[in-house]
Amino acid sequence: MLAIVVIPALLILWIITSIRRHNKSGLKDIPNAHFSVPYSRLWLLSIRWRKKENRSRIYLHRRLGPVVRLAPRELSVNCVEDGIRTIYSAKFDKDADFYHALVDQTGFMVTMIGNDEHRRRRRMLAHPYSNSYITNSGTIDNILSRVKHRLQEGMAQWASTGASVDVYMQAKCSMLDVVTGFLFGSENATDTLLDPSFENDLTTLTQATTKNLHVRTSLEWPMSYFASWIGGNVRPDPVARSRWEEWLTQVITNSYRSHPTKPSSTASLYDHFYDNFKAADPEMSLNDMASFIAVECDDHLSASHIGLGILLSYTMYELSRAPHWQHALRKELGTLNEPSELSLAHRLPNLRVLDAVVTETMRTRAPCPGPFPRLVPESGCRLVGKFDVPGGTVVSSSAWALHFNPDPFPVPDEWRPQRWLEADEKTEVEMRKWIWTFGSGARVCIGTHFSARVMKELLITIYSNYETLLDEEFTESVEQEDVFSSSPLAGRIQLKFRRLTQPDTMVVA
Ligand code: HEM
Repeated sequence: MLAIVVIPALLILWIITSIRRHNKSGLKDIPNAHFSVPYSRLWLLSIRWRKKENRSRIYLHRRLGPVVRLAPRELSVNCVEDGIRTIYSAKFDKDADFYHALVDQTGFMVTMIGNDEHRRRRRMLAHPYSNSYITNSGTIDNILSRVKHRLQEGMAQWASTGASVDVYMQAKCSMLDVVTGFLFGSENATDTLLDPSFENDLTTLTQATTKNLHVRTSLEWPMSYFASWIGGNVRPDPVARSRWEEWLTQVITNSYRSHPTKPSSTASLYDHFYDNFKAADPEMSLNDMASFIAVECDDHLSASHIGLGILLSYTMYELSRAPHWQHALRKELGTLNEPSELSLAHRLPNLRVLDAVVTETMRTRAPCPGPFPRLVPESGCRLVGKFDVPGGTVVSSSAWALHFNPDPFPVPDEWRPQRWLEADEKTEVEMRKWIWTFGSGARVCIGTHFSARVMKELLITIYSNYETLLDEEFTESVEQEDVFSSSPLAGRIQLKFRRLTQPDTMVVA
């Protein structure tokens, strides 16, 4: 009897308080994604739970403009000036609730909330990730040459047998083999193109992380309390985890031992990291340092392995759907046969078709669609010149919503590399401002130059002497899953390889 009276009374009280709060809120003039969002987070949580958040943001912004309210104190922002330029500046901290749901382990750059700690760490790694370092790195030359050789062997075999190949897995293996060499030296690099079992471990662990994040950010208390009952709090596969940790400990120990005698021409990221830690805090114990380095490098490994695996395999998929772009690319790669004193890495900026193909895939297939939530500082902020947003509001953007905006990108749903080749200078500069594959501002991805070099050189290796074709028998969905790390729904992308026989189309790369 009491419940019949008390529950409706509490409900009415809650509705009245919510309406009052909404009427006073500084966010009341911002268009609502759903009638309920000024009062409750339920709508946002439901689209997140159903894995529709980033796709919904695309259509919401097309309908409602550049700033949309998603929950009582949460906004989605979809413009550059007075938008991402503002909210991804150093004044806005990361939203701890979200980033600490991302992984149990914190203490690396992506999860650092305070900007001072982050700035110190970022400074330590800025040099080995800079464009000039990446372009001239002998360590990357060595490791890329080994991985290219392995790929050549694989492609020769796939082409001769007509096999259907899961290029998503091959791309992840290639990336893992390159990045392990960059981080710990080519002598410590994995060789998963030859034996993919280790790559499978990492994929299994990443899937558990993605699933945990999805459950943790889609449920509110008290439902979050029951997360483990419905598949949340997935414990990473203990066997894969221990194999992975064992490997990481081993390569860090090896790197530590070889560090004193390592020439700078073969230096790894570990060597730079170690020297910078030592300079910043000479008293730091070896164990603490090893543990900081392991946690940071673990993150760089998973970012490259999955993120670049997604980008490389989707670029191959799009090229297989559009053979005329393979033809245009190969024609351009023919220019690499002309004698030059420059290394391949230095000649990459001249390959405009290659750049257009990669950039367009970064636009249409961004591997991390978002959101990347930030907290508005206490002083508040103004968005799109008209909305005054109070401190404490959570603001975020989605790469997919920015990339599928028809204003900067007409016919946004189509993969059209020509948009990058045909645009005049002003339009191209404007379009590039909207490309958000790697985020922007103070916390922009540190791996952008590394990613560009590795992606482009591997594509040159593949398309110089081979063409790729769709496997007509593969009919599973290649759409991306709408989660933080967006792999193909099928978990694979099957293509076939054919060796080029016309000598004039073949390239020495
Ligand atoms: C296609 C591949 C990649 C994608 C899509 C990607 C995407 C991103 C994005 C969107 C951010 C910003 C996150 C935020 O604002 O919270 C980020 C940060 C970061 N990425 Fe990447 N990334 C990729 C490759 C890499 C690679 C290859 C590395 C290193 C080897 C790397 C290391 C990092 C690090 C350390 C950060 C944190 C930077 C900071 O907080 O200062 N990423 N990445």
